[in-house]
Amino acid sequence: MIGNRFSAAAETYDRHARPQLALAQSVVSMLPEIYPEQILELGSGTGQLTRLLTQRFPEVLIDAVDVAEKMILHSRAKFAKFPHINWIVGDAQTYWGGDRYPLIVSSSALHWVADLPKTCENIFECLEPGGTLALGMMLRGTLKELHELRESIAPEKTPDLTLPTYEETKACLQEAGFHLQRRKHSEEEIVYDDAKAFLKAIHEQGVTGGKVSTGNAPLNRSELSQLVADYQDAYASDGGVYATYETATFLLTRD
Ligand SMILES: C[S@@+](CC[C@H](N)C(=O)[O-])C[C@H]1O[C@@H](n2cnc3c(N)ncnc32)[C@H](O)[C@@H]1O
Repeated sequence: MIGNRFSAAAETYDRHARPQLALAQSVVSMLPEIYPEQILELGSGTGQLTRLLTQRFPEVLIDAVDVAEKMILHSRAKFAKFPHINWIVGDAQTYWGGDRYPLIVSSSALHWVADLPKTCENIFECLEPGGTLALGMMLRGTLKELHELRESIAPEKTPDLTLPTYEETKACLQEAGFHLQRRKHSEEEIVYDDAKAFLKAIHEQGVTGGKVSTGNAPLNRSELSQLVADYQDAYASDGGVYATYETATFLLTRD
């Protein structure tokens, strides 16, 4: 039966879905029944979360900030029909728009910052008293299989940067002055067609890329071939390979 076929595919379909989209959806679904006059989005990237915000809050002014100029140029062109979105090059660690916002959101972005405590303090300053922060973060357990394998193949090339843990993130937010209203913490395995497709996907999506994944010294050709072969053997699942994503969504307020 067609219904059964779709039901059977639902689980594997979800497991193949891009983790950043799932996290952005989680951020939006955690928002309370509010209709803010203006929104600040930090680390807007290609606008995955921004699009969800335009659906939930049509016509609301959005200041979408990203540190990468190319991302801003790309998204400004892609969202040309949305004049109420301002695309701004800026760093979440220091951004100040000249006024406070009633709602600040961010997804799959702030695990990149060099100084998480400073970033949380800056966001607190940008938020109106009584305002809401909804935050989706990738956490330490993300791509743990890849990191373990990489360490066993080339221990001298282990990246010195790591993603924050759940407890570290929660502590930074609370120390900055936020009140935690709701949270969701999860670990999920995503299945990719094979090890090569997985490595290509994380490279293209920049899931934890940069120095968090590659360190200062990238693997050479033979180390990379070994990584692909070993990953395929060690983490096979459902006709493909799996990778873990540890994420958290936080809903916070400022008194
Ligand atoms: C993986 S993308 C996620 C984009 C989008 N929020 C989503 O949910 O798909 C991460 C984005 O965060 C941006 N980013 C990283 N560090 C940042 C910082 N300190 N300030 C602002 N943006 C930053 C990157 O340039 C990148 O575009």
